[in-house]
Amino acid sequence: MNNNTHSVQMLEFTEKGDERGHLVIVEGHQDIPFDIKRIFYIYGSDADVVRGQHANRRTEFVLINVAGTSQVRVRDGKGNEILYSLNRPHTGVYLPNMVWKDMLNFSEDSVLLVLASEHYDPDEYIRDYDEFVRIVNEGE
Ligand code: TYD
Repeated sequence: MNNNTHSVQMLEFTEKGDERGHLVIVEGHQDIPFDIKRIFYIYGSDADVVRGQHANRRTEFVLINVAGTSQVRVRDGKGNEILYSLNRPHTGVYLPNMVWKDMLNFSEDSVLLVLASEHYDPDEYIRDYDEFVRIVNEGE
């Protein structure tokens, strides 16, 4: 799946552990491919909830389960699909713009941290899967 400059991939972050505990560092343009303009986090989602269900025209994301576990399903609109399991606070998944994403299988203690390359703009969200497939395959 490589329809953008950077492709979907798992990222491993620096973990500075000592006798006091763990410290994970994520710096924009160093540990991830973009500068961070926005963060949000998702918790309290039941196991049968599917979140996301959209693509973004511009925004790139990194998702990190800082507590608990969840899964991220990514589709490119051309028939390719990949499922990532997020289960360690020092790993994340990088999502370029223009991929379809679903977040699912949240554990009860899941806290899913999301780093985003852009400020929130509802107009750059594509929330209709058929429209996403059409744009990817036919352009707009
Ligand atoms: P939504 O995109 O449905 O969340 P998810 O991607 O987890 O499924 O967002 C839920 C609501 O929150 C929706 O009304 C838009 C709003 N929202 C913001 O105002 N700013 C944000 O940065 C985000 C991610 C959502």
